[in-house]
Amino acid sequence: MRVRHLSLVDFRSYPTAEVPIDAGPSVFVGPNGQGKTNLMEAIGYVATLGSHRVGTDAPMIRSGAACAVIRTAIVRDDRELVAELEIVPGRANRAKLNRTHRCGLERCSALCGW
Ligand SMILES: Nc1ncnc2c1ncn2[C@@H]1O[C@H](COP(=O)(O)OP(=O)(O)OP(=O)(O)O)[C@@H](O)[C@H]1O
Ligand SMILES: [Mg+2]
Repeated sequence: MRVRHLSLVDFRSYPTAEVPIDAGPSVFVGPNGQGKTNLMEAIGYVATLGSHRVGTDAPMIRSGAACAVIRTAIVRDDRELVAELEIVPGRANRAKLNRTHRCGLERCSALCGW
């Protein structure tokens, strides 16, 4: 299983981001504070439904924004799944699979086999 594409809206320092990720090892290169770890944190959030940095969701929402969205195109064998998480402070986060199915995060993780 691998992430083929990462899209962000109002996640950490990113108003928006579109990041294609090739198969094989990838390296994010940039100056300090550029947002490299933020990209890894977004991928980690989708994989684990949590942050390796903080225990609450609020820091992951860009300052001044109401909510954050992480969307990943995930390839597994010959199938592709689009998994989208909407992070809203003070409310249950929402998950969407292949842009149609909405469900709570626990059910979503079960569906994805995470
Ligand atoms: N919720 C947030 N809203 C706005 N900006 C944020 C938020 N959280 C983090 N940032 C910004 O993200 C930047 C840090 O990003 P990140 O830690 O990904 O950088 P980095 O490229 O990994 O840096 P380094 O090379 O030092 O590890 C800082 O400028 C910080 O202000
Ligand atoms: Mg870093």
